[in-house]
Amino acid sequence: MTASSVSQRTSSVIHEYPPSSRTTSGNALPTHRGATPASSSAEPTASGHRSGTTTRPTLTAARTAGRQSTLSGRWIPAFAGMTKWRAGMTRLRGRGRRGPAPGHIHCRVVSEPAYPLLFSPLRVGGLELRNRITLSAMTTGFGFSEGAPEAEALAYYRARSRGTALATVGFSAVAPEGRVENAIAWLWPEGAAEALAPLAEAIASVGAHPCIQLGHGGRQVSPDVIGETPTAPSAVRAGAHVRIAPRPLRLGEVEEIVVAFGRAAERAVGSGFAAVEIHGGHGYLIQQFLAAESNRRTDRFGGNSVVERSRFGCEVIEAVRKAAPELAVVVRINGSDLVPDGLQVSDALVAAERFAEAGADAFVVSAGVYGSVPWTIPLLDDPEGAFLDLAAEVRRNVDVPVIGVGRITAPESAEDALRAGRCDAVGLGRALLADEDWVAKARDGRSERIRPCIATVEGCAGRLQYGEAISCSVNPGVGRETSPPLERAEVPGRVLVVGGGPAGMEAARRAAQLGHDVRLAERADRLGGALHLAAATPGLGHLTRLAGWYEGELERLGVTMSLGSEVGGAEDLAGFPADYLVLATGARTAPEVLDGYEHLPAWTLEDLLEGRASSHGTWHLIDPVVVLGGGGRALATALWCRRGGYRVSLLSAERIGHDTSGLARRAYLSRLAATAVRGRASRITEAGVEWLDETGDRSVLPARSVVVAEPLRPDAPAALAPRGGQHDGGPNAAGVHTVRIGDARSPRTIGDAIAEARQVVEALPALAG
Ligand SMILES: Cc1cc2nc3c(=O)[nH]c(=O)nc-3n(C[C@H](O)[C@H](O)[C@H](O)COP(=O)(O)O)c2cc1C
Ligand code: SF4
Repeated sequence: MTASSVSQRTSSVIHEYPPSSRTTSGNALPTHRGATPASSSAEPTASGHRSGTTTRPTLTAARTAGRQSTLSGRWIPAFAGMTKWRAGMTRLRGRGRRGPAPGHIHCRVVSEPAYPLLFSPLRVGGLELRNRITLSAMTTGFGFSEGAPEAEALAYYRARSRGTALATVGFSAVAPEGRVENAIAWLWPEGAAEALAPLAEAIASVGAHPCIQLGHGGRQVSPDVIGETPTAPSAVRAGAHVRIAPRPLRLGEVEEIVVAFGRAAERAVGSGFAAVEIHGGHGYLIQQFLAAESNRRTDRFGGNSVVERSRFGCEVIEAVRKAAPELAVVVRINGSDLVPDGLQVSDALVAAERFAEAGADAFVVSAGVYGSVPWTIPLLDDPEGAFLDLAAEVRRNVDVPVIGVGRITAPESAEDALRAGRCDAVGLGRALLADEDWVAKARDGRSERIRPCIATVEGCAGRLQYGEAISCSVNPGVGRETSPPLERAEVPGRVLVVGGGPAGMEAARRAAQLGHDVRLAERADRLGGALHLAAATPGLGHLTRLAGWYEGELERLGVTMSLGSEVGGAEDLAGFPADYLVLATGARTAPEVLDGYEHLPAWTLEDLLEGRASSHGTWHLIDPVVVLGGGGRALATALWCRRGGYRVSLLSAERIGHDTSGLARRAYLSRLAATAVRGRASRITEAGVEWLDETGDRSVLPARSVVVAEPLRPDAPAALAPRGGQHDGGPNAAGVHTVRIGDARSPRTIGDAIAEARQVVEALPALAG
């Protein structure tokens, strides 16, 4: 069986959300909402040359005949020799690498927006929204000191709000014991209105209505953050992350929190905010009152029905309305908690009706709590628009606008959701982290230029979990908005990037943006490298979108590409006067030396996913399978095998998920149903993989085939590496200043590779000196 036929055997679907999708009919947005809509190749790949366990496709054809570039249909001679390549360069030079070539300018003058519903106005309370795009509330883990915004937060919000109609500042605490993180806005201190005014001003300065999320975390607050035991409606522990039982709130304390929400709204209005978003979802305090599982109270804030348990939320909304009648009041609710004993859709509808009666001007419909799967932030194979069915349900039951949120990444899907009447506006979170120009690109009909979010949360929410500031795996500029924009190089250098994976593509893109003369050589017949390998596993298929985005950007920037071209030795450089060589040749699995490989068919991850034969020359995985490794690659491979119908065990010397965030780890494990053990493989037998635990005890994991996913070793050609192995770069044997980046330097995540590529390239002029 080949790799592709394995994947066709998909039989076990472990992950069951979303429930059967309900379709919502209707082509126009209802007028009560104030809307006025304007209207696998069989050919061996070059990369197989180095890795194949049994089959070693030759590069001869690629090297001598050249390959068709996948980028524009133009023919680029491959490395038959430098002369040919340079000839290719010369022909392409006229395409204008310092700006788009004639005929390649993507922006166009549009008489009407490409997404007419998305760019139509909407009324929320007393506010006129200029379009239907909102910045979803996101904490950042940076930019606030003692609850007041610093320059970093102002610059971040200015960048993220650009073009949106309503931009919401992430979770902001109404009381000290309700803080979910350290670096957030505080709304309880007396000086809060003054302290937060620059934040409202920053958002308003780019034309968006400033909104701030009012929250209290209740039992989902860490004692490490607040320095005391968290409080909640009842002494029931949260499902995940916070490990201690909360202290039940006394009646008077509940009433004080209601007052605190009102006072926070007053401060918000004093700061210049036009709207507030009351956080009634995600398992925070208002949701804890709503759910029977967390609210066992017998006073007026408890009760057997959702109507009774919604009292706290209603009083909060009324207090906010009363304290600041001029504010638009948005309420975030869960359409479902996505846990068996949490709020279900029917409960959410009741709560939404009650909250609308209490004064909500609009709802953001989200889902999930700390212990749910999917989590509040959809990832892996959670679908585009993951929570839109829930938004549609709520929308049918309330008379105010509903904002849909949850992995809405493409303008097309936002427009479709509006057209189908599933929501009245969209909330974008990670899409605006990945590309702060999302709105402008959508508005101008340049959606193919939007840098896609890859939804692994490694660079954003995954960091928050460890108390770190967010950035973004595909956009390392997140959190660095205060850095002055880099000037184009005064003296452009000639940069040769070898390797077209994420690090190489980012290096080439950044170097071209900075005005350098860039050539990118990739031995495979397409760009993407490790992205394509990862994209073959479940939940990461959208990584091909990132590869596609880079292709488009590199072409637009005039980077000269040579596909199917191996640059492995100094002779390949001889005829090319490059000032800088960037080695981004990635890494490969380097199986440990073990006795007994002859007993069972074994594949490296690359061989398996690229459809090559096993160490036995066979093509079929045989059940059961042991995957050696415990990082993200191993988890993704195990899930791939599992989805193919195989029983899987993971054996890892390190912690399972050692190189992933806790969120990604949990997402994988919840989908996997695999045995995972921690120990060292000692040998392979006919019965399976023998392993030793930390005490030296010996066991056997039953297996009839083995996949080796770890360890990874850098795969940079030694002949081109900097002399003396200098880590930060230096001249190589050919005298060309050379740096190694990404996995070729040290195997890490895609985000690390991209961030490093950018950093190294930005330092290029310094290297010249
Ligand atoms: C880094 C990060 C921080 C977040 N912080 C908040 C928050 O403070 N309040 C909130 O209601 N949701 C928060 N969310 C959830 C988002 O608002 C949004 O509902 C979720 O990410 C799904 O939307 P998306 O797929 O467009 O990112 C956060 C999400 C991320 C990625
Ligand atoms: S870090 Fe990843 S999930 Fe988060 S916004 Fe960036 S690409 Fe998306």
